[in-house]
Order: sequence, then C-alpha cells, then structure tokens
Amino acid sequence: MSKSSVKPTNDFCPQTLFLYGTYDDEGKADFGLFCWFSYIWDGELGVMACIGGEKLTKDSIHKRKVFSANLVTEELLPLADFMGNTPGRSKEKMKVNAAVEAEEGRVLHVPIIKASPVNYELEVKQFIPLEDGEVLLCRIRNVLQSDLLSAGGQANSTEKLRKIAPVHTTCNRYFSWSGVDLGAWGEPMAQV
Ligand SMILES: Cc1cc2nc3c(=O)[nH]c(=O)nc-3n(C[C@H](O)[C@H](O)[C@H](O)COP(=O)(O)O)c2cc1C
Repeated sequence: MSKSSVKPTNDFCPQTLFLYGTYDDEGKADFGLFCWFSYIWDGELGVMACIGGEKLTKDSIHKRKVFSANLVTEELLPLADFMGNTPGRSKEKMKVNAAVEAEEGRVLHVPIIKASPVNYELEVKQFIPLEDGEVLLCRIRNVLQSDLLSAGGQANSTEKLRKIAPVHTTCNRYFSWSGVDLGAWGEPMAQV
C-alpha cells in the first residue's frame, strides 16, 4: 500500500456523535454537539471527552461537574446539527433548547433527551486543561437505554443498530450507520 504523510487530520476515522446536555443557573437546558468522545478504563468503564475553545457547555460543566451525553440518531440529526452550529448563548439556540423534549436524569441533575435511545449521566472526575481546550475524564453514573435495545434474543446487535440508526461524522460530513452520506455540517439544520 503506497502512503503519503498529510497534515494532522481525523478524516477517515469516523466518530460517533453525542448531544451533551447541561442545565444553566436558571435550570434551563442547553445542548451542544460533540464527537471527541471515547471510553476509558479505571477499574470500571468511564468516558473521556475533549472540549475545544470556550463554549456554554464547557462553562456549565465547570460549574456543576456533571452533564449528559445523548446518542445522536438519524431522527435527531437536524436538531443535533443545529446545536453544533449555533452558540449556546444566542437567542436562537435558547428558543430551540426550550423546545427539546427532555427530562431530568435518574441519578444526576442533567437534562436527558427523550428521543435519544442511549443516554449517559456523567460526573467529571478530572479536568485536564490544555492550551486551547480541555480533556474531561468522567465517571458513568448511569446509562439509560431504550428497552428496544435491552430486549434479549429478539434481535441481534446488527438489527438493533440498524433500528436506532446512530450517526457518524468525518470529513465535515454526516454518515448513516450503513455509510450513506447524510449531508455536510450545517446542512441538516435547515430542517429545524
Ligand atoms: C459535527 C460536530 C461535532 C462537534 N464536536 C465537538 C467536539 O467534540 N468538541 C468541541 O469542543 N466542539 C465540538 N463541536 C462544536 C460545538 O458543538 C459547538 O461549539 C456548539 O455551539 C457548542 O454548544 P454550546 O455553545 O451550547 O456549548 C462540534 C460541532 C459539530 C458540527
């Protein structure tokens, strides 16, 4: 296989998308879209997340040390794309945030998106500041999962993933679980 060195990029390394949910001082929910999310092991399964630059999600997590991570599915993609391309402090986003059907977590004070089939309730154990970003190491305090996914035997994992249709991102575009192009960043939000 012939190869060339390219500038640092994560193109061709598809990532799963999550909407991080936080409450502000007035108890209003805010959601941001994130893909720099993965898992760690520290005696139990945990989560690591990287937040770059300054954003409302980061400020809120600093205040409360907790947030939710809600899996983005094809159904949620227009909303997720909007949340990823609109700053949390804008009037426009506050309006859409207020219309999201959300409920409080079962264990932590975090907003959970009802239409998302997998929700993590996360508590930050360690903040690792970088020059222009931050890595968060988190304890998973609860996982809420659709009963569709927990039902044993009925369907195998392939069938369950097909049903919930998680979205991937790479090359500044969105892709379905089976690899179908779902549009460029900033396109699906036109449907919100
Ligand atoms: C597809 C996609 C993935 C993103 N992933 C991240 C990420 O992993 N880390 C990050 O800091 N920002 C990420 N962003 C940018 C945030 O979603 C964006 O700054 C958003 O406005 C944050 O919401 P907030 O202002 O309500 O905190 C991503 C944006 C898009 C469109």
